Amino acid sequence: MFHIKIKATFLFSLFIIMNLSAQYNTLWIPDTISGTTFNLTLRDTFTQLKTGNQTITAGINHNIWGPTLFFNKGDIVHLNVKNNLNDSTTLHWHGMHLPAVMDGGPHQIIPPGTLWQPFWKVSNNAATYWYHPHLHEMTQEQMTKGLGGFIIVRDAEEKALALPRTYGVDDIPIALTSRRYTTNNAFVTSKSSYGDEMLVNGTPKPEVSLPKQLVRIRILNAEMERSYNLGFSDGRTYYIIANDGGLLNAPVAATKTLLAVGERIEILVDLSNDAVGATLDLNAYNGGFPLGFPGGEPGKTGEFGSLLNNTTFNVLHIKIAATTSNPIKTVPTSLVNNKYWTESDATFSRTIKVTNGNPGGAPFDLDNAPFSFTKINHTVPLNNIEKWTITNNGVFGHAFHIHDVEFKLVSRSNGAVGVHESGWKDVLYLPVNTSATFVAKFDDYADAIHPFMYHCHFAPHEDGGMMGQFVVTDPTNFSQIDNYSTKFTVFPNPATNRVYVNFEDSNASAYYIKIVNALGKTMMMLPKPDLQNGIDISNLSSGIYFMQLMDNKYKKESTQKFIVK
Ligand code: C2O
Ligand code: CU
Ligand code: CU
Repeated sequence: MFHIKIKATFLFSLFIIMNLSAQYNTLWIPDTISGTTFNLTLRDTFTQLKTGNQTITAGINHNIWGPTLFFNKGDIVHLNVKNNLNDSTTLHWHGMHLPAVMDGGPHQIIPPGTLWQPFWKVSNNAATYWYHPHLHEMTQEQMTKGLGGFIIVRDAEEKALALPRTYGVDDIPIALTSRRYTTNNAFVTSKSSYGDEMLVNGTPKPEVSLPKQLVRIRILNAEMERSYNLGFSDGRTYYIIANDGGLLNAPVAATKTLLAVGERIEILVDLSNDAVGATLDLNAYNGGFPLGFPGGEPGKTGEFGSLLNNTTFNVLHIKIAATTSNPIKTVPTSLVNNKYWTESDATFSRTIKVTNGNPGGAPFDLDNAPFSFTKINHTVPLNNIEKWTITNNGVFGHAFHIHDVEFKLVSRSNGAVGVHESGWKDVLYLPVNTSATFVAKFDDYADAIHPFMYHCHFAPHEDGGMMGQFVVTDPTNFSQIDNYSTKFTVFPNPATNRVYVNFEDSNASAYYIKIVNALGKTMMMLPKPDLQNGIDISNLSSGIYFMQLMDNKYKKESTQKFIVK
């Protein structure tokens, strides 16, 4: 009798355990692309995220989210971005230092069916970056559908350190976001700042097996608006080793870290004292923040409400697995030797104010004006080291992001710069009634006609016009006008696999080439093309095409017709 009773209890508890574990889905670890050529195809598709209907999503080589791109510092990387979406889009390399024309901001619009081929020399430090669409007024919708991916940069300094770096094993990336669904399981893509259910790397209710050892987690806040106050369920200490733009000088111990939209941290967490099979949760401790904290609003529904607001919720369920064969055992005492800019390095100061938008329009803008494509808000001379102060006297927090540079946050009006933001940064969280000052050097890429963006990274705010633009100009570049001809011919014509450009004047060169088909549709976008080896046109079907070439010096556009056999 007793024996039977035990059995029944055992079966009952087994049932409970199985049921509980069925609540989780295995975290998807994005696949990786390495080397120097990266083929990315954006497409509309469906993903089974909930029981019942599939959700309309968009992905990059996938149904939702995209591959992780591994870049080596010093390499020239070539990106082949094919837009197979039904809409125009852009793809921005968040955090990358590159020419503005390659940046993938709102100006580099890729029409449907077009191949965009930016390239640049990777000069960023080893850290975790990401890519995402940046089409003005459409960023929230396109990011909500799932477009985006990680970039992991590696360099010699990072490689020399004893850090976990076996991707997907003891080094895992997690992109944190949340979604609200309609009753038909469609994503709510507008008039909704917060989701009701977590999605990590596109996985709902994610669970990951991590080995019983020191593990590195690369965390990206890929939200529309919500900040995350991240900690482990048992309150254990973890070590922040990197933020947005590189490793810190030394690991910083933490139990809770506030991560705003667009920000990244890399942490080391020690699982060596956990039992194999035990579980641990990474949680967001988002309860009890003052008004103005993004995601602190008390409502559960509506544009600014959410089931996850102002509460503690689970971000990632962790199951401890066996130790791997060569685990990293200790947290290094020091990492790299960053030489940060200080306030006294700056030779020029600017201020950017968060202001209230026009009644009836978006709630916020910058410096009393919404974003305008035709207005250059700031002109920065090449190689300037500048101090920018961003002030927020409004009723809500924001996440200020700047393109082109990584900056050093030098001060905050409400106290010290946080330890989690003590390294190179490209996003800063700006709480209510505070200001923050950073110093950055605007080196390498001058371009008087292609601007870089700065904006609030909350997608609804950015789409609403809380964005401005700056150009970096080279004041020494007043070299004599050498009055060359910008005339060119295309050969061979007809062509099959490659076409070449022949300039009438050997002083001429190409700044931008667009290949347009007979219907006027842009097929290829080639910023600063290297014409030595010709242009690969093997993806074009036979027909008549036009090459629109903008020359380097005069930025004058001329067109030549050619035929693809
Ligand atoms: Cu991550 Cu201008 O963006
Ligand atoms: Cu960016
Ligand atoms: Cu904002």
